[in-house]
Amino acid sequence: MTTILITGANRGLGLGMARHAADRGYHVIGTARNPGQADELQGVASRVEQLDTSDRDSIDALAKSLGDTPIDILINNAGIFPHECDDINELDVDTFERVIRTNTLGPILTTKALMNNIAASGRKLNVSITSNLGSITDASKGQMGFLGYRTSKAALNMANATIAHQLKGKGITSVVIHPGWVQTDMGGPQAPLQPEDATRHIMDTIDGLTSEQNGHFVDYRGKPMPW
Ligand SMILES: NC(=O)c1ccc[n+]([C@@H]2O[C@H](COP(=O)([O-])OP(=O)(O)OC[C@H]3O[C@@H](n4cnc5c(N)ncnc54)[C@H](OP(=O)(O)O)[C@@H]3O)[C@@H](O)[C@H]2O)c1
Repeated sequence: MTTILITGANRGLGLGMARHAADRGYHVIGTARNPGQADELQGVASRVEQLDTSDRDSIDALAKSLGDTPIDILINNAGIFPHECDDINELDVDTFERVIRTNTLGPILTTKALMNNIAASGRKLNVSITSNLGSITDASKGQMGFLGYRTSKAALNMANATIAHQLKGKGITSVVIHPGWVQTDMGGPQAPLQPEDATRHIMDTIDGLTSEQNGHFVDYRGKPMPW
């Protein structure tokens, strides 16, 4: 049976992916900062684990709890989009550090902690949910802003490209996926995509990933994204 571990699975895209994965018969391990308050996830996942991706001890505790359980698919999904670090003229440095710790370092350390679990599985997929706002090519064409968030996702993209090379020898395929602009707490009510549809496409894309795509940056439909 395919085992999938999704971070930040108690709401938004993480919960949507957990639902589709459960419908597909996967063994779903969902993580939440507060498992006791993750009622919907408790009804969907086979197992719920505590994880705060900005806290190294929490990441280590998750790895310890999993032991040598093979993880076919890791989805580093947990993320934040705080606006106190949007503009260099009014920069809240603590918020900037928090967004980097959560959106960039968190996925890197989670992958590091679980890479042997992934390597021990059949699918060996290391997926991180990034954003088109992390694309430097797109940013240079459009309206700028969101300094902290954009930086965290651009750095996540580079981290993935690097990790893809470094973990290739273990047979692991590492990919970053832009989920589209989706109506979640983060995406807001103006977003054109519903979580149900976006996460179905994301899961289809993940199910179709091959080792040929190691290091790639794609959107929720699997279309290559500009760096
Ligand atoms: N929605 C969009 O339009 C969109 C577009 C591009 C990229 N993304 C990316 O997609 C991912 C999911 O976004 P979303 O729209 O589902 O956001 P969301 O609705 O705000 O949900 C975010 C999830 O991440 C969790 N989380 C936040 N900080 C965490 C931490 N330090 N440790 C562990 N979990 C943490 C939250 O847990 P709590 O409930 O405990 O806060 C929640 O489960 C993010 O990486 C985001 O950057 C979203």
